[in-house]
Amino acid sequence: MIYQVYPRSFADATGDGMGDLRGIIARLPSLAHLGVDAVWLSPFYTSPQKDAGYDVADYCDVDPRFGTIADFDALVAEAHELGLKVIIDLVPNHSSDQHVWFQQALASPEGSPERARYLFRDGIGENGDTPPNNWESVFGGPAWTRITRADGTPGQWYLHLFDTSQPDFDWQNPWVREQFLDILRFWLDRGADGFRVDVAHGLIKEAGLPDYTPPADSGSMGGSTRPLGAAESHDGSGVHDHEYSLAEVFPEPPPTPPYWAQDGVHEIYRDWRALIDSYDGDRVLVAEAWVEPLDRLAHWVRPDEMNQAFNFAYLSTRWKADDIREVIDESLAAFIGVGAPSTWVLSNHDVVRHASRLALTIENPQGYGMGPKSPGRPDPVLGLRRARAATALMLALPGSAYIYQGEELGLPEDIDLPDSARQDPTWFRTNHERYGRDGCRVPIPWEADAPSYGFGPTANSWLPQPKDWAPFARDSQLGVAGSTIELYRSALGLRGGHELGHGTLEWLPGYPADVIAFSNGSVTVIANLTDSELRLPDGELLLSSEAIDGRTLPSDTTVWLRSRA
Ligand code: GLC
Repeated sequence: MIYQVYPRSFADATGDGMGDLRGIIARLPSLAHLGVDAVWLSPFYTSPQKDAGYDVADYCDVDPRFGTIADFDALVAEAHELGLKVIIDLVPNHSSDQHVWFQQALASPEGSPERARYLFRDGIGENGDTPPNNWESVFGGPAWTRITRADGTPGQWYLHLFDTSQPDFDWQNPWVREQFLDILRFWLDRGADGFRVDVAHGLIKEAGLPDYTPPADSGSMGGSTRPLGAAESHDGSGVHDHEYSLAEVFPEPPPTPPYWAQDGVHEIYRDWRALIDSYDGDRVLVAEAWVEPLDRLAHWVRPDEMNQAFNFAYLSTRWKADDIREVIDESLAAFIGVGAPSTWVLSNHDVVRHASRLALTIENPQGYGMGPKSPGRPDPVLGLRRARAATALMLALPGSAYIYQGEELGLPEDIDLPDSARQDPTWFRTNHERYGRDGCRVPIPWEADAPSYGFGPTANSWLPQPKDWAPFARDSQLGVAGSTIELYRSALGLRGGHELGHGTLEWLPGYPADVIAFSNGSVTVIANLTDSELRLPDGELLLSSEAIDGRTLPSDTTVWLRSRA
C-alpha cells in the first residue's frame, strides 16, 4: 500500500505554516505504525509554487521552503531504515516559466534551439494575435500565452495545458528526452525507489496541433465520460428518474484529444523503464494518466513500460454496487491482461476527498472542487460512513492500493475554506467559477490540543484549518476502538497477513443486487449498499467498517469474515 504525502500539508518542522521534509522525517514512524509499504511524495523541488510545486524551476534540487537536498537524503535513509520505499513525483509535461530553460528560450530568437525545448508557435492572423489553436487549459482559459519581445512588441505564443506559468515541453525534441533521463538518474542515484509520473498521458501532442473541441460532458483531465462522485439521490427512492437517450445508451466514443494519450508517449516510457531496470532493487514507475477506457490505460503498463497506473475509473465510480462490480471486473481484466497489478485509489490531492464525495448528490468533475456555494453539499455523517465502507472494500482487493494523507483520519473536504485563502490556479483561471482543489489540501491534524493541531510548532498553516477538526486529529483516534485510523490500521495489517494484495477475487453468488460480496483467498468481503440490514452469514468477523452486533450488516457497511475452509 502506497501512502501519498503532500509535503506542504503533512508536517511542518520550521513553524512557517508550510510543511517540509524535516517534518516528514519526524512523522515517518507514524506511517510505519499505520502499516504502509511506501510513501509517494508530491513535488518538493525548487518552484515558485504557482501550482503547489507542480511548476518545477529546478528538477534536481529541493525548494528552500521544503528543506535541502541533504534533508532529502536523510528522508530516504530514515524511510529505508523503517522499511518504507520512497516514490517521488516527476513532472515532465511542463516546467515552471521560471526554469532557466524557459528563461533562455524567452531570451533566444524565434527558431533557436532554446525555443525548440518548448512549444512556441506564431499566432494566427495578420498580426498573429489569435492563439495558434483553440485548446483550453485544464485550469480554464486558453492554453496559449503570448510573449513580449525585448523591444516591447508582441512575439510568439507558447503552449501551457495547465497554468500560464507551466509551459509544455516539446517531447519530440531529443534534447528534452536526454535531460529527463539525467533527472531520473539523479534521483535514482540518491536512492529514490521510483517515480509517480505527472500527466503521463500528455507529453506528446498530435502533429500540427490541430483544433479540438471537447465533448460537453468530458472531465477536465482525460476526456472521461464518467461523472466523478455522482451518488444516488438520497431521497429514499434511491434512484434518479431519468430517461436515457439513444446517445447515452450507445455513446460515440469521444475522439482522443490531440494533447492526451497520443501513441508516441509509449516510447518515452520504454526508455525510462530500461533505465530504472538497470538499477538494483525494485524501482517503479507509476503513471498518472487520466485515460479511459481501462483497457486503453493498460497500454501504459505493458511489460516494458510503467509498472503501475492510477485507476481513476475506480476513483470516479459512484457508490453503487453494479458500477463498483463492473469497474472492478474491468480493472482486473485490463491490468491482468497486460501482466500488471491492478491499482485502487479513492482520494488524492486533485479530487474532493472521498469522505465527502461519496455523499454528493450531484456530479463533481475532477479538479472542480467544492465551496460554500456549491450545490449538492454532502451529509458529513453519511459521507464518512460510506468512505469507511469504501476503504474497507478497496483494501480487500487484489493489487496495489493508494491512500492520500488524511483519509486515514476520515478527513472530509474543507468546503467552507474562506475564498480569500484559496490558492489553486483553477479558482483564479475560472474567475472563481470552480473552487478548485484547496479543500482537499488543508494541513492535516495530528494533535487535538496543539496549535495548528500539531501540523507544526506554531499556529501557522498555509491554508486555514477548520475549527472543528480536533476529533479528526491522530491523537484523538489512536487506540480508540472503531476510530477511522484504527480501521485503516486493522485493514492494512489483515491485508498483509492474508496477502490480499496478491490474491484472487471471486464474486460470491446469492446476495441481493446492491450487496457486493466476494472472496479473496481466506477472506470473505461483504459490503451492504442497500438501505436495509442484511443477515450476516456465519463466520469469524475479522473487520467491520462500523460497530456491528455480529449477526446483521447495516447499510453502508463493509465486513471481512474468515472464509470457511
Ligand atoms: C497533475 C497533478 C496536479 C497538477 C497537474 C499539473 O494532475 O496531480 O496537481 O496540477 O498535474 O502538473
